[in-house]
Amino acid sequence: MNKHLQKLFDLRLKAQEGGGEKRIEDQHKKGKLTARERLDLLLDEGSFQEIGMFVLHQSHNFGLENQRVPGDGVITGYGTINGRPVMVFSQDFTVFGGSLSEAHAGKICKIMDLAIKNGIPVIGLNDSGGARIQEGVASLGGYADIFLKNTMASGVIPQISAMMGPCAGGAVYSPAITDFVFMVEHTSFMFVTGPNVVKTVTHETVTAEELGGADAHASKSGVAHFTAVNELECISKIKKLLSFLPLNCEDDPPFLPTNDPSDRMDSWLNEFIPENPNKPYDMHEIILSLIDDKDFFEVQDKFAPNIICGFARLGGHSIGIVANQPQVRAGVLDIDASVKAARFVRFCDCFNIALLVLEDVPGFLPGTEQEWHGIIRHGAKLLYAFCEATVPKVTVITRKAYGGAYDVMNSKHIRGDMNFAWPSAEIAVMGPKGAVEIIFKKEIESATNPEDALELKTEEYRIKFANPYAAAERGFIDDVIEPKSTRKTLIRAFSLLTNKVDTNPKRKHGNIPL
Ligand code: HXC
Repeated sequence: MNKHLQKLFDLRLKAQEGGGEKRIEDQHKKGKLTARERLDLLLDEGSFQEIGMFVLHQSHNFGLENQRVPGDGVITGYGTINGRPVMVFSQDFTVFGGSLSEAHAGKICKIMDLAIKNGIPVIGLNDSGGARIQEGVASLGGYADIFLKNTMASGVIPQISAMMGPCAGGAVYSPAITDFVFMVEHTSFMFVTGPNVVKTVTHETVTAEELGGADAHASKSGVAHFTAVNELECISKIKKLLSFLPLNCEDDPPFLPTNDPSDRMDSWLNEFIPENPNKPYDMHEIILSLIDDKDFFEVQDKFAPNIICGFARLGGHSIGIVANQPQVRAGVLDIDASVKAARFVRFCDCFNIALLVLEDVPGFLPGTEQEWHGIIRHGAKLLYAFCEATVPKVTVITRKAYGGAYDVMNSKHIRGDMNFAWPSAEIAVMGPKGAVEIIFKKEIESATNPEDALELKTEEYRIKFANPYAAAERGFIDDVIEPKSTRKTLIRAFSLLTNKVDTNPKRKHGNIPL
């Protein structure tokens, strides 16, 4: 072999060895794959083109000049997933714990620039101890460069972060700016600072798992959108998510033909809503009945489960679903539910994904806990998100649509394109009992039998307002439909809206109540 080729092969081998055999072995012992193994699983076979394999850090602090591994702890490049292009980076924990140096950051920024210019999604496989401590401010600068790129790319291309190891410091803020965060149970962690620093600063004793494990971020903080039992499942979920998304904000989501008939009717839907308005039911059952092939990809399923968000298809077209869940806290809108759904609505609007709203909501959650934490401010986020969204927006009210929550959940007034109701819908300022106790307070109190009077008035109110027809009379509801015909009605509606054009006033950007 000629010496030039020999040198190339030697350097490639060195890059591929990363931090060496021992550290690779340690990685495997922890139940983790290496950065390259992850890319092999993520990308179509043979599609990966690496760029920046020979990049080295330029630091001379603390003897770093003697520890230079080609690639400097991150593998970057592009490839395809199911034939569609993606830009990728995969941090190598075997090299300085995947920590971020100036050179490492430069490689990530380079692929992000390519992604933005060419309209290609970015997937980051994160496994990093944060800023490379020995590089000092140079690595902080590197993080800031990435944060800026993440922000510039936001709404232009989908950005997906998978957490595949202990990610600390700067390593969590870039993912936080991206659109979706995946975490692997028991092997990935996210925290601003780890348990040791927590102990020093707040005197709390907490494990890494409790502080920033997958479960904590999926169910408590809402930082993680998806969790997986292992890295294999995580990678397969990333591919699934991508299947619903366009490549960029100018592109349409991919069309997936289906054999599920567009006029399929599930007769049981006609009897599904309980007679008793206080009896819960599982909104998932309705979702699965309406969508193609019962294929629902739920986002943040463990966080604020009183609202359901997720991707599905109707007649082959991607849609985003936002649905109240009567089975959890009666489907009430609280702070977490509002924030979760607002971000989802905004994502769909950025990327031309039509929105379907399934509504059964008794209102916003009252009380000091919610008020003092800002339900007004946070609830306004969801209102704002639906108001500004210009993608096709269709609502079906299955049961309750009370008060401000009626307005918020993509009502006609805030540019709902098609608003349907089932005959069981109750659309009013508030629930019958609460309303009657206010407007007939004196009458009820002075009645010989206040309980009977309350019941009588409640029934009167229910007949007058707890139905969809007062709203339909005004055109706020476009049609009252038989539940079993909902799938057909929705496919027709979204088909009508395929070429919808709507705009917002020209401005620098809106000021969503953050
Ligand atoms: C340089 C690092 C490093 C770092 C880990 N290593 N983190 N090197 N800079 N930030 C190196 C270790 O020295 C070790 O090298 C190897 O990576 C593996 O680390 P271990 O500690 O042995 O692994 P483990 O026990 O699994 O613990 C992983 C860890 C821990 C939880 C990530 O290493 C850790 O706490 N690291 C520091 C986290 C941190 O505070 N980062 C700075 C955040 S500040 P050898 O040679 O032994 O293999 C920050 C500012 C940005 O990021 C802010 C922007 C907003």
